[in-house]
Amino acid sequence: MLSIAQKLTEVTEQAFSALGLPPEYARVTVSAQAETAQFQCNGAMPCAKAAKKNPRQIAEEVIEKLRAIDGGKVFAALSVGGPGFINMTVTEDFLTAHLAALAKDTRMGCPVLSPDGEFIVLDYGGPNVAKAMHVGHLRSSIIGDSLRRLLGAAGYVVIGDVHLGDWGTPMGMLIADYLDKQEDSVIFTNYDPSRPDEVERLMNDMVERYPKAAARFKEDEAFRAKAHFHTKQLQDKEQPAFGMWQIIREVSKIAMEKNFLALGVRFDLWKGESDAHDFIAPMVEDLKRKGIAQESDGALVVPVAREDDKKEVPPLILLKSDGAVLYGTTDLGTLVDRMQENKPAKIIYVVDQRQGLHFEQVFRAARKGGIVPDSVELIHAGFGTMNGPDGKPFKTRAGGVMKLEDLIAMGVEKARERLKEAKLAEDMPPAEKEDVAHKVAIAAIKFADLQNNRVADYVFDLDRLTMFEGKTGPYLLYQAVRINSLLKKAAEQGALPAETFILQEPERRLALLLCEMPDHIALAARNYAPHILCDYAYKVAQEFSSFYGNCHILSETNEGLRGSRLALCALTHRHLQVILSLLGIQIPERM
Ligand code: ARG
Repeated sequence: MLSIAQKLTEVTEQAFSALGLPPEYARVTVSAQAETAQFQCNGAMPCAKAAKKNPRQIAEEVIEKLRAIDGGKVFAALSVGGPGFINMTVTEDFLTAHLAALAKDTRMGCPVLSPDGEFIVLDYGGPNVAKAMHVGHLRSSIIGDSLRRLLGAAGYVVIGDVHLGDWGTPMGMLIADYLDKQEDSVIFTNYDPSRPDEVERLMNDMVERYPKAAARFKEDEAFRAKAHFHTKQLQDKEQPAFGMWQIIREVSKIAMEKNFLALGVRFDLWKGESDAHDFIAPMVEDLKRKGIAQESDGALVVPVAREDDKKEVPPLILLKSDGAVLYGTTDLGTLVDRMQENKPAKIIYVVDQRQGLHFEQVFRAARKGGIVPDSVELIHAGFGTMNGPDGKPFKTRAGGVMKLEDLIAMGVEKARERLKEAKLAEDMPPAEKEDVAHKVAIAAIKFADLQNNRVADYVFDLDRLTMFEGKTGPYLLYQAVRINSLLKKAAEQGALPAETFILQEPERRLALLLCEMPDHIALAARNYAPHILCDYAYKVAQEFSSFYGNCHILSETNEGLRGSRLALCALTHRHLQVILSLLGIQIPERM
């Protein structure tokens, strides 16, 4: 279903074409000045510039044409404003008919951006084996999961891949540390996947061991050589490195799954860097044969610099001198896999902004090597850093890396406090209360993350983002729950939403806002920008609040008006439900 702005654009295009004006200028948007008009078209100005005419006069001509085409059905008022804006207001009949259709639309006005269901590979999450998941992975998981839902709703078939970090030097470091200290029995003899306590013990051992091994790697040359040796041994799938790695990976995966479950984030594929292995040797051969891969100081590289580069773009290193592969190699091999296996129209990486240069190198090498044709879009949807209240990257109080599970636990603790303060969820059975606290915490964390422009850094302030007031996840949950209970109460009294709308001034603003849904979803999906949905959801909740404060609903004696207002409540509730679900946020039944 089209939004009102889209419908008006179609009519306006006809008018522009009939006047010999370029129809691409006919775009109609929601008016920036709600007092003056509901919608506006700014196309007269650029047309006038091209035709060297007065923009106001062109606007007048367009309006005259619009009146002739429309015959009073759609437009209640058309006027020229300022330097040549075309101001538009629609008729009451048109608006109420549109609302009634929206209320019946099963897609809730969700636009279809890919009618043929093109494939998208979405690379997000990206945690590393044998390390605790941290807040960087939190951002990637939350944003990626929202994009999976959003692009899926917009008609794409999205394949979400977690792309584990499981094939690099860190693996070699850890394995070398176990072997060097003759502690590999910790892995081999004790591992029993059916025993959660064992799995946890082993995971803790790896998480504690890893930073120590990394420190040794930095300081100790002999150890560094061993780590490189075992990295290569792993990548050649030789023992003991390969066998140890299989267990390390499996244990890590169990721990990760727990985290993702708590977050409500899911993946279609649990592949990793290691899955690129089989594609790498043939790819390297092919790049060599084409003369694209070159020797450089014993290593094999793909030069990707261009003449017009403003900053230096170093070559992508395919193979080190010992033949081991690097991050760029596995990403390139993964592209070979994805092109063959998934035949995507787009491949989107939801990865920290600071890896921008890496993706620039990988994308250039992929184009140069003919691995990904120009028809397939490669997108690095980067994100900024999550900072603590001190403005520095988020850490624990002790200054360490904040683990994801600890962060979620803190969120749930805070949510319990907030519910108590607000006297919410008071009389619930304990299990339901816990469930509500978990939902509030996840809503708070996700909304705080998603509401920022993806590329911006933001401050994670648990005190603020768990509040039930202001632009927060809990506020939106609270509004949605409140509308739901209002509708339930109405139904108990036999008052049901009507199918026809009667709009008076206070509710017209809410009605017009609800009709904007397809515009916001399309914009968010086209720009991979969930914050657009957050802004919109917040606006809807606020506008609902003012409608609720200004209109009688249950106490309205005029039955038609009451039914119409209940229908607006129901429509608002569905809007919040849809948007929050696109953000990966669940609404509790009651609160
Ligand atoms: N494991 C990486 C990290 O922790 C992120 C992986 C991102 N995806 C990719 N295809 N490179 O930084």
